[in-house]
Parts: sequence; structure tokens; C-alpha cells
Amino acid sequence: MNVEGTHYRTVWLGDEPGTVQIIDQRKLPFAFEIEDLRSVDNVATAIRDMHVRGAGCIGATAGYGMYLAAIEASEASDFDAVLRQRADQLIATRPTAVNLRWAVDRQLDAMAAKEWAGEKLDVAEETARAIADEDAEACRSIGEHGLELIREIAAGKSDGETIHILTHCNAGWLAFVDHGSATAPIYAAHAAGIPVHVWVDETRPRNQGARLTAWELGQEGVPHTVIADNVGGHLMQRGEVDLVITGTDRTTWTGDVANKIGTYLKALAARDNQVPFYVALPSSTFDWEIEDGVREIPIEERGGEEVSHLGGLHESGEELEVRLVPESSATANYAFDVTPARLVSGLITERGICEARGPSVRKLFPEKFREA
Ligand code: MRU
Repeated sequence: MNVEGTHYRTVWLGDEPGTVQIIDQRKLPFAFEIEDLRSVDNVATAIRDMHVRGAGCIGATAGYGMYLAAIEASEASDFDAVLRQRADQLIATRPTAVNLRWAVDRQLDAMAAKEWAGEKLDVAEETARAIADEDAEACRSIGEHGLELIREIAAGKSDGETIHILTHCNAGWLAFVDHGSATAPIYAAHAAGIPVHVWVDETRPRNQGARLTAWELGQEGVPHTVIADNVGGHLMQRGEVDLVITGTDRTTWTGDVANKIGTYLKALAARDNQVPFYVALPSSTFDWEIEDGVREIPIEERGGEEVSHLGGLHESGEELEVRLVPESSATANYAFDVTPARLVSGLITERGICEARGPSVRKLFPEKFREA
């Protein structure tokens, strides 16, 4: 998508051999900086410390990280041992978003099919590019399918009436390679001339909504309003939300959705107010192995300083962090929650929209379900 009118992806291979480039998302919206990653250590730090974040972006960055791992392995005496160590290092960086393991496993499989180090290197580069390209394409398709949903809602309103869409956290292009998942239908509707307005949850504790979603919607000229996390239910009661679309970091094949902490409460409020609650995801975010999201999806717990402190731009132009919580108070920082499938109106995927139910998911992705 566009930054000051120039098209960017979130992660790509730099011109200098063996260099991966990312947008350092910690700096947004106050500074736009590109960071070079030259080793698996650099990539692991970038994912763990959230220079890049969001399921698809983490997956694509890990895909490129595995290309760097192949370079490092080709310089070592035991290619396979070094590759495995680097793969484990990347997988350990963040536990909830399944795209990370998916991308690393895809790279390991691709390299295992080749015999010589040179061939492994070539296929690792090719696969890294393919993961990124496929992510961008899947999100573009999600936009097309989600646009139909928005068109249906628009058809039930009077001509030219604005559609109000609420989203939580950042499932925008910054969370993927391009387009975004939850935002792709919004961008498509905006481009099609349908009047849309987005309620952007600030998304404490890291404020990805306030900092990232608001910034990217602004870059694309999409009308939006940032709200405190607890406002959504109130707006829904007043009929000021037509549709909720969120992203997800991992969705079970049965339709349980892990997403940024607070998503579950929005889904409950949406159900209570008959507001459709949709989740947008590329198929790389499905976990085909597990059935019960509440019990089985690992929920990342992060440092308490994200809760006890708040960062932002001081009017002096300096980025500052301030303490909010008494020094003696304990903090807990659960980064994700799970919304049970029964609260999800539908899943918007690159192959179309389906119910958040095993049989419907199976109809769209039959090849993922092995016959018993
Ligand atoms: O902790 P993050 O920023 O990596 O969390 C990911 C998210 O931004 C959200 O949970 C998002 O809605 C899903 S990722 C496409």
C-alpha cells in the first residue's frame, strides 16, 4: 500500500545480497524507517521485539529469515544441524501467530527436497519470495470477497449512506505483506466509491490500532475515528456499527479465532446487538491440527511494562515513555484471546466467505482435510 504516495510492502529482499529489509513498525506513526536485517539473529530480534508484527508479516519475515538461515548453514560444516537450529530460533520468537511456524516448515520442506547446498539456497530464496507474493495475493482476494459483503450491507441502506465498520488492533497491510486482511475489504470498498468510515479501537497495551491502523487508513484517505477500547459496545447499542471485521493470528479449522486481546469482548457485544462479526484471514492463518481454540491455542504473555507504561510523541517532538501504574502494582499482559466460533458470523478467506464451522471451512479447503 502507499506511504506518502509511494508503494511499499512490509518486508522484501534488499539489493545488497543477503539483506532483508523491513519497515520498522515500532517507529510508526511518528517516523517511517526502513531497517536492514542481515542475519537470523537480526530477524529473530525483529520478530520478538515487534519491529515487524501481525500474522502474515511475521510469516513472510520468517520466510526471508529462513533464506538467511540457508546462507548461514551453507557456510557451516553441518548444513542440516545449523538450519534446524536457526528454524527453532525463529519459531521460538512468538507463540500465537501460526503463520510463523507455517512459513518455517514450508522452507524446511522445500530445502529438504533438494540435495546440494547451492540448490537449497536457491529454493530458499524462491520460497521466501513465493510466501510473500502469495500473502499479498491472498489479501487482495480477501478484499474482493469482503467487498461483496460490504456491498450487501450498502444495498440495505439509503443511497450514499456511510457504512460504519469497527476493527480491532492492526490487521492492515502492516500486519501482512500488502493490503491487509481486515482492512482489504475496506480499501476495496473505498476504492469502489462506497462511503465507509472505520471505528479504530486503540488496542491497549501496544496501541496498534491508534498507531498503525489509524496511520495506514490515513495514508489511503479512508475516513476513520480512533476510539478507546471500551467504546465499541456503546456504539453498537446506538446502531453506529454496521459491521465488525477483525484479523486473526490463528484460527482453528473449527472456526475458533485467536486475535489481539479484547477481540472476544467485541464479539460478545456484536452478538448482543445483532451486529455481524466477520474475521478475515489468508489460509496460512488456519491451524489445521487443533480443534478447540480456547484450550489449545498458546496465548503469548508479554512484559508487564507494556501495561504499566505508555509511549507517545511529546509536543517537543521527542518520543517519550511514561509510567501509568503505581510502582508497587503488579501487571499482567495477555496479548491475545480466543473468540469461540459460535460468535463469528463468517470467515473471509482468499477463496471466499464461509461459516466459522469445520464443514464450511472444509468445503473451501478440501485438500487440507485428509480422509481418515
Ligand atoms: O501482537 P501483534 O501486533 O503481532 O498482533 C497481531 C495483530 O495485530 C492482531 O492480532 C491482528 O488483528 C491479527 S494479525 C493479522
